[in-house]
Amino acid sequence: MVRLYDDRKRILVTGGAGFVGSHLIDRLLEQGHEVLCVDNLFTGSKRNIEHLHNHPRLEFQRHDVCLPLYVEVDEIYNLACPASPIHYQHDPVQTTKTSVHGAINMLGLAKRVKAKIFQASTSEVYGDPAVHPQPEEYWGNVNPIGTRSCYDEGKRCAETLFFDYHRQHGLDIKVARIFNTYGPRMHPADGRVVSNFIVQALSGEPITIYGDGAQTRSFCYVDDLVAGIITMMETGPDITGPINLGNPIEFTMIELAELVLQLTGSRSELIRLPLPADDPRQRKPDIAKARDILGWQPSVALADGLKSTIDYFAHRVR
Ligand SMILES: NC(=O)c1ccc[n+]([C@@H]2O[C@H](COP(=O)([O-])OP(=O)(O)OC[C@H]3O[C@@H](n4cnc5c(N)ncnc54)[C@H](O)[C@@H]3O)[C@@H](O)[C@H]2O)c1
Repeated sequence: MVRLYDDRKRILVTGGAGFVGSHLIDRLLEQGHEVLCVDNLFTGSKRNIEHLHNHPRLEFQRHDVCLPLYVEVDEIYNLACPASPIHYQHDPVQTTKTSVHGAINMLGLAKRVKAKIFQASTSEVYGDPAVHPQPEEYWGNVNPIGTRSCYDEGKRCAETLFFDYHRQHGLDIKVARIFNTYGPRMHPADGRVVSNFIVQALSGEPITIYGDGAQTRSFCYVDDLVAGIITMMETGPDITGPINLGNPIEFTMIELAELVLQLTGSRSELIRLPLPADDPRQRKPDIAKARDILGWQPSVALADGLKSTIDYFAHRVR
């Protein structure tokens, strides 16, 4: 769809060369908008947006969000931040800086150009939750000094900044707490469970289960997540969030491993390794707010989402 000029928005996506950001850009371009993708390519890759090479409405700018950015835009989606433990623990100080300085810089930009601004927050703000499933009212159980804290506390501080800019400067903010998301263009070496299992199954290596494998996770397919993100951005200024976006259906790690084995036809065996520090036993979103306020809920079944993710990895791994 190509929009008329007066109807077309100029949209900044930080972290746009990453997994979620590149799918968001696909959707925004399909909707006829102009997109500026800003990324320092730390975990993202130009490969994720190379199918858009020479797209007349997409511009790429290599830039670190820890530095101020001066551009004219109508909306900002702030996604820049490494999302997997392997990557965010690689340089934890930089991770906190990306969340905190990145939020300050993008909020400053939003204030200057009067843009609506979306923050990709995370279920990690709930830490190792004592409440299950997690509603937005739950304040979380986060270790402030652990190895995951750079990410968890960075994202919590970013939420604080978003709400203070909203209260103090009247910014139109949208904060979504994103739960485990998977799909094509996930980083193959990011150590996240879906990509790990698929890569291991496709290459015939043993599938690594941490702990007893009875811990549960919920998995949201990236197309569902992107639909939720855009729907939230389209709400009026009275909707600030935080709103959980994720899939409430839980699977144990063993169930996920078995489904991946079945869909890949792999004969990989399952092996067990010790549970990493601060690894939550259960994580499941309460999405009542997303349903009520946004009319949103995930619609892609795990087996269907896994099939397209496996297809993607099959082309990369073999
Ligand atoms: N994928 C998930 O399951 C999930 C869950 C919760 C929250 N999130 C959030 O969604 C966002 C996107 O996650 P993703 O899975 O696409 O991760 P990703 O690592 O694939 O994408 C993050 C992007 O941000 C870029 N980036 C990192 N630091 C930057 C900096 N300082 N300046 C500019 N760009 C920088 C990276 O190069 C990458 O392209 C992140 O903010 C993440 O915290 C994701």
